[in-house]
Amino acid sequence: MKNTIATTMNELRTDHRNMVMLLNLLDAETVRLADSDEPDYELIYDVMTYLAEYPDAVHHPKEDLIYRHIKSKRPDIDDSLRHIEADHEALSQASNEIRRDIDAINAEGLVDRQALAVALRQYSKDLRKHMYWEERDLLELADSMDDDEEWATVLMKYDLAHDPLFGSQVERRFQKLFNNIQWHTVWSGQHNFV
Ligand SMILES: [Fe+2]
Ligand SMILES: [Fe+2]
Repeated sequence: MKNTIATTMNELRTDHRNMVMLLNLLDAETVRLADSDEPDYELIYDVMTYLAEYPDAVHHPKEDLIYRHIKSKRPDIDDSLRHIEADHEALSQASNEIRRDIDAINAEGLVDRQALAVALRQYSKDLRKHMYWEERDLLELADSMDDDEEWATVLMKYDLAHDPLFGSQVERRFQKLFNNIQWHTVWSGQHNFV
């Protein structure tokens, strides 16, 4: 059966590791931007596009469903979990704002580079902190829940969700980013959340 707790948690943890790799790339470009060096705007844009299309559209909504499912089973622990939906909303807004800034730069618009560097740094910090919390609390809690038919029903809508960058087939528009990830991972070996 596809949607067991174990398979879903594996997918979410894999997504987290992938996102950390992307944030490592993003951080390197942010340093260049803050140092008034010319960063790779295409790379920044590709990372932010991927984050909007897969984590924001699939990974986070999947976690929201898991959160609601846990809440229905364990209302007593809701206080420690309920910030998850607001976190996802804030991360999505921040990534959209950053993409708009990159669009403006590509269109020769006026964008404060230092402000963009601050926004990128904050975004990376917030997403890392968020994933660290999920690994430690939300996913641990989900691991301890009983597997049942409801899980399969809850998560069925994401059965066919395709990851355009880390899935079985890298989409052509993300090929350059994929190559960058491979190079960066080989040389840095960093996978830390914080
Ligand atoms: Fe999340
Ligand atoms: Fe997550």
